Amino acid sequence: MIKAVVFDAYGTLFDIQSVAAITDEAYPGYGEIITQIWRIKQLEYTWLRSLMRRYEDFSVVTRESLAYTLKGLGLKHNADVFECIMEKYLHLDLYPDAAATLAALRGRKLAILSNGSPRMLDALVQNRGLDRVLDATISVDAQKIFKPSPDAYSLIESTLRVGPADVLFVSSNPWDACGAKAFGLKVAWIERLTPEAMALACVNNDAVPPLTMFKAIRMQMDELGLEPDHRIRALAELPELVGSA
Ligand code: LAC
Repeated sequence: MIKAVVFDAYGTLFDIQSVAAITDEAYPGYGEIITQIWRIKQLEYTWLRSLMRRYEDFSVVTRESLAYTLKGLGLKHNADVFECIMEKYLHLDLYPDAAATLAALRGRKLAILSNGSPRMLDALVQNRGLDRVLDATISVDAQKIFKPSPDAYSLIESTLRVGPADVLFVSSNPWDACGAKAFGLKVAWIERLTPEAMALACVNNDAVPPLTMFKAIRMQMDELGLEPDHRIRALAELPELVGSA
């Protein structure tokens, strides 16, 4: 029986693509390519820092990956512009069905498990009013290693006192869904983009737009020999799924 539903934050409850509004305002015409390279490098740096055992919290990694992106694109930036873009990470848009889904799941323990730093997550959760519906906001910072390390997922049981078999972990990030499955959690992966839709996005398209490239790299289920228990298309499917689990 599912006693707790635990959500990834960035890309699952909160739409990281919403930073494009700010990046395009700062650098007209570059908004999308900044957004996609930034996210790809941000995740890459979490994996590299975990493997190197050189942990820095997610706010540092988010800064470093933004600095890489702007430098890599030859975009000059001053502190004000940089801080304005970083601030958006504390005000990311919620996915449209997130609040209603969380309300419909009331009665079970609800939490976030995220790579985000405690300060980033607390600000984001409060700014979007989720502090009223979540039982816990769990940052991997307590373990000084990022997902998909098992040490990160172990924080769920130590925080919620619910064993892995009774937890449904929800993520739209394939690598995160695989990590949670490898750890022994029940997993619902939000497949927001099917391979068929991906193929259509690429057909007859000489210059594949950055967002399409991002979707091809980061939104298709990884080939790691690990399958989620459920493939859903949106958060809104969870109440029925959990109710029948
Ligand atoms: C999170 C990002 C990495 O952990 O998806 O919230």
